[in-house]
Amino acid sequence: MDRKAYIEEVMDHCKHPRNRGSLANADFCAQDANPLCGDEIKICGKVQGGRLAEIKFDGHGCAICIAASSMLTESAKGKSLKSALGIKREAVLADFGGKMSPVRTKCALLALKTLKIGICGFLGEKGVKKGKMYESL
Ligand code: FES
Repeated sequence: MDRKAYIEEVMDHCKHPRNRGSLANADFCAQDANPLCGDEIKICGKVQGGRLAEIKFDGHGCAICIAASSMLTESAKGKSLKSALGIKREAVLADFGGKMSPVRTKCALLALKTLKIGICGFLGEKGVKKGKMYESL
């Protein structure tokens, strides 16, 4: 994809975010903030058969943050929890063409961090070791 295509894709997700809203009877919810600006994202998921059957995000953030949340929830939906935890920061950054300033990188990765916190908390309740999943952040 060329730079123009990346920008168009990001702008589309920003203007028309997928999976934005609340999720009734969620199995997990997590909220986190970008320490540089205070913007917050909340992600909730429903788990069925070890997979993310449904996922929603809400909150406020810049265009990059909202687009990243939209794209991440699209790619995480239907994945096993293990696969979702395995989503690498590089994969998220690749949705933006791979090159971002450190400040913008924090914007782009807020949703991924929040999702991993949520899944980690869910698995922790089920007796799986906590903390292990943060290694890629
Ligand atoms: Fe706040 Fe991007 S400026 S998340």
